[in-house]
Amino acid sequence: MADQYARTGEDMRSTGMPVIRWEEPPEGPVVVLLDQTRLPTEEVERVCTDASALVEAIRSLAVRGAPLLGIAGAYGVALAAARGFDVDEAAAALSGARPTAVNLSVGVRRAASAYRSALAEGGDTGAAAAAALVAARALHREDAEASARMAEHGLALLDELLPGGGHRILTHCNTGSLVSGGEGTAFAVALRAHRAGRLRRLWVDETRPLLQGARLTAYEAARSGMAYTLLTDNAAGSLFAAGEVDAVLIGADRIAADGSVANKVGSYPLAVLARYHHVPFIVVAPVTTVDPETPDGASIEVEQRPGYEVTEVTAPQVPVAGAGGGIPVAPLGTQAYNPAFDVTPPELVTAIVTEEGAVSPVTAEALAELCARSRQV
Ligand code: MRU
Repeated sequence: MADQYARTGEDMRSTGMPVIRWEEPPEGPVVVLLDQTRLPTEEVERVCTDASALVEAIRSLAVRGAPLLGIAGAYGVALAAARGFDVDEAAAALSGARPTAVNLSVGVRRAASAYRSALAEGGDTGAAAAAALVAARALHREDAEASARMAEHGLALLDELLPGGGHRILTHCNTGSLVSGGEGTAFAVALRAHRAGRLRRLWVDETRPLLQGARLTAYEAARSGMAYTLLTDNAAGSLFAAGEVDAVLIGADRIAADGSVANKVGSYPLAVLARYHHVPFIVVAPVTTVDPETPDGASIEVEQRPGYEVTEVTAPQVPVAGAGGGIPVAPLGTQAYNPAFDVTPPELVTAIVTEEGAVSPVTAEALAELCARSRQV
């Protein structure tokens, strides 16, 4: 049976195909992913028949972005359960596939605990596997709903901060339908502004080294008919200096209890630029990205990725040459510093927009209150 949540019109809007879906062909259940390493040149799907294939897809960024990692992790547990693999082992491997986005372990835990509860209530492994799938589908659906609410709250905040309308928004990395069960986080706000006729321009940072901005955000912006312009990450400073940026909108991979925000490397320099130029720096993320167990920014584990992502151009459409499968752009043996994320301190964040509303100023107390409110719903 095809997954009913992944095949909606919404899901197809800024991507050519569903981003993730569960399918049950006669050979057994599978998780089908839109392979994000192949975009924008090819819209190709990757079929995962077990959790280890999903772990590989997560590590290689075929599936990526915090909310989608949570959904993929939950489907991965459901897949392991449905195919009769060791669920605890699969859950540990999935949670450990990438360390920074807290949504991954949140999604894995949710499906795994549905599985264990069904067993504890006397169900057999089939019933427990079905319970894990119900949990994964619920997470998928809830993420779509959260996306829509974040877009609404985010646009209201933009309109309040920038009463003139005609917003010129700078974004980093990719935060649209490709990272979500719905239309995403920061990108969903820009899309809502576009549909309301209030987006003048989306400035898209290319997002070195893996080019999520150029390959993925530009792809989604083009499909959505938005006015957008791509820039190298290095060009952001002169864009601010020219007075061309009204607001920065980014997503988050983990928000610590004190409001520190881990997001794609290059976000922190944008926050510093935004502060210097008196431009609002707004983070858009579901409440599940707030991690009360991580007290502060220094406690966030930042993923370090292989140096060849910097020393070679590794986009898969480039003919194979170097050790990482790409064209070398630095002398052989060059060492690279390649953190996947950086951490922005709360004092540089104007607001955090969630599906429960916006927090501004960003304080530990306000975030704790937000999490408590969301748990009551
Ligand atoms: O390494 P990636 O591509 O998974 O990084 C993704 C990001 O940094 C996104 O900005 C973040 O996950 C927020 S998406 C809502």
